[in-house]
Amino acid sequence: MGVEIKIDGLTKSFGKQLIWGDVTLTVPAGEICVMLGPSGTGKSVLLKTLIGLIKPDRGSVVIEGTDIASCSEKDLYEIRKLFGVLFQDGAMFGSMNLYDNVAFPLREHTRKSESEIRSIVMEKMDLVGLIGAETKLPGEISGGMRKRAGLARALVLDPEIVLFDEPDSGLDPVRTSFLNQLIVDLNAQIDATFVIVTHDINSCRTVPDNIGLLYHKHLAMFGPREMLLSSEEPVVRQFLNAQRVGPIGMSEEKDADELAAEADQELPPLPPIPLQLEPSNGIPRRAQRPPGEWCRLNGVTPPPGSFQSANAGLAPGA
Ligand SMILES: Nc1ncnc2c1ncn2[C@@H]1O[C@H](COP(=O)(O)OP(=O)(O)OP(=O)(O)O)[C@@H](O)[C@H]1O
Ligand SMILES: [Mg+2]
Repeated sequence: MGVEIKIDGLTKSFGKQLIWGDVTLTVPAGEICVMLGPSGTGKSVLLKTLIGLIKPDRGSVVIEGTDIASCSEKDLYEIRKLFGVLFQDGAMFGSMNLYDNVAFPLREHTRKSESEIRSIVMEKMDLVGLIGAETKLPGEISGGMRKRAGLARALVLDPEIVLFDEPDSGLDPVRTSFLNQLIVDLNAQIDATFVIVTHDINSCRTVPDNIGLLYHKHLAMFGPREMLLSSEEPVVRQFLNAQRVGPIGMSEEKDADELAAEADQELPPLPPIPLQLEPSNGIPRRAQRPPGEWCRLNGVTPPPGSFQSANAGLAPGA
């Protein structure tokens, strides 16, 4: 089913450095969310706060009635069993083969027999397309395979929530497309809540149900994919369309002179909103909405050419 994550007024500083303040959003059960933001805006810190590895200064993260930010160690231990986490580098044990890496959480956290473990491990390795690679060491395989092995390991405890920290960093565009399809297929199959941190604008434009943007120590916007992709809000518009014109500079914000120099430059038009990536078996995900529905319901005219498979370009099926 997946479970909802309700984040309210979340604030975190390290010493005097405020990372983000008053972050409030609800990640709906079973939906795919992408969190974006320039480097250093605290996306990884946010993911770590969601699993209780980092304690916020203020605010709450409520999952199934438990506040991760203030609960006891014992409750935290229980609630963590709901999570699967794909770390940025796959975080494999270098001296263990892929089979043992994927089996690790089952041996650590359950009392299952080796034959039960075997059937779960093989099922998850099949899911991510790694059958036949069980005896390989992490150092012997490509980055893309390591990511998929990390994903298999994140799934063995049948998580209700899966957190992905830059699952596509270091992957070539073709592997990124395969990984995106895998993420959508997995969401359809296990119906868990997915939170994905990525820098890949194409993934962000085509994969999620919801998008959040962290910028300048706060959550600039969070909402349905179509809402952000049609937004004229300068920071959102600039970031989601990878444009140079806008308030974001090479290092944090542009200064007043830079912005003044841009003031009479015409903004490039918003590109069409691509179709959302669908499961490869053609059966819609539970959270999937018809293309253009959000725009219609909210009286927003999407950019010309939106939701046409012909202009999907780098989108579904590409
Ligand atoms: N344990 C820690 N102690 C002190 N400062 C930290 C700690 N963890 C993170 N930070 C600081 O918090 C800020 C946000 O870090 P974070 O890793 O979350 O950024 P990010 O948005 O994930 O960046 P990137 O896109 O480069 O991965 C950085 O300035 C970092 O130095
Ligand atoms: Mg990070």
